[in-house]
Amino acid sequence: MEASATDAVEGFTRIFGSVASHRIVAPGRINLIGEHIDYCGGQVMPMAIDQHTTGLFRLNDKSVVRIYSDRFDDMATVIPHDVLTKKTGIWSDYAQGLLRESAHRSVAKGFDLLVRSTLGSGGLSSSSSFLAMLALANHFALSGEMIDPVDRGLRLQLALNCQRAENSFVGIPSGIMDPAAILLGGLIKLDCNTLKYTRLTPLPKAYCIIILDTGTPRTLAGSGYAKRVQEVRAIEALLGRELLGNGLANLDPQLLSKAKGKLPDLILKARLEHLVTEQQRVIQAADCLAVGNMSDLGTLMNESHYSLQSDYQVSSKELDAITTLSRRHAATAGSRMTGAGFGGCAISLCRRDQVTEHNRCVSEDYFNETGHTASLYTTDTAGPARIEAL
Ligand code: GLA
Repeated sequence: MEASATDAVEGFTRIFGSVASHRIVAPGRINLIGEHIDYCGGQVMPMAIDQHTTGLFRLNDKSVVRIYSDRFDDMATVIPHDVLTKKTGIWSDYAQGLLRESAHRSVAKGFDLLVRSTLGSGGLSSSSSFLAMLALANHFALSGEMIDPVDRGLRLQLALNCQRAENSFVGIPSGIMDPAAILLGGLIKLDCNTLKYTRLTPLPKAYCIIILDTGTPRTLAGSGYAKRVQEVRAIEALLGRELLGNGLANLDPQLLSKAKGKLPDLILKARLEHLVTEQQRVIQAADCLAVGNMSDLGTLMNESHYSLQSDYQVSSKELDAITTLSRRHAATAGSRMTGAGFGGCAISLCRRDQVTEHNRCVSEDYFNETGHTASLYTTDTAGPARIEAL
């Protein structure tokens, strides 16, 4: 066992007074392309990554769930079936929200969990990674089953529980992309209307994904995100059934100008432009991946960023700066913000043999331009969230 893993096992014993029986690993995710369209029926292209949340677990024969978060240096004690508990505005709301999604909880099905994360950077979905980990822990506590890596039905059901916890208890109207990406693993194209997904051809070996953490907080990530979802619902109401079909992202691009004509202001027109063009870019990106055309895939990623910057307005000064600097380097095929935006991380598609030079130049130029210290690192595709006996 590596030093930090031994350390965690000892930490568990110190905190809970018993020996951990299982380890749970839940990856984070990046989204290659298809941003802000999962909550309006779009197809998205997320990838589970090797930065992750780890949990050490043991049943505790009580009716409470005790969770110790290393990141917050804080212990939460959650009574899962206590439906009267109000949200508190801190990290443990995610746990309370998720655990109350399990209707058939009975006494003495509690567990202890020690949580650690290498997903420091905003934008890699640390919250869904945490929720997915809890969902696996809770499923094991209730059923005694360690979920099968290929049980898609159950994995999607748990992903929906994670989404519901965030929507109805935590109060963020997020889509299904993040929990589904984390519970399904790999690089996928996910249809957020039907939850059907296909596994995509991996990137050619000569290319890799770099995470570019701007080192800036995700200002407005909660409220700005909710505002965009509200705008989308307003557009849906204004367009009516005939144009709406099965979600705004799926609007026929040929009907885009007709649809815009029904919208009263420029902001809503711009939002719709993003949703419809972003969906087309996802479809083209899947074709590029299938034939290994990284140059066109990179161009689509750049266009996605510009659309999120000017039409959807969810980028930030720092995300714009770091992606521009990355694009200037010969290593980069394309660069864009990833996730909800408003700060946090971007991703670049880079030639593997030039990554060291790229990271050095971009970090230096970014510091000179913004005064912020970025952190740039390569990420790889990871498998789905899993639970294993120790
Ligand atoms: C956040 C949400 C997702 C998705 C992305 C933007 O990560 O949790 O559901 O909407 O933003 O694509």
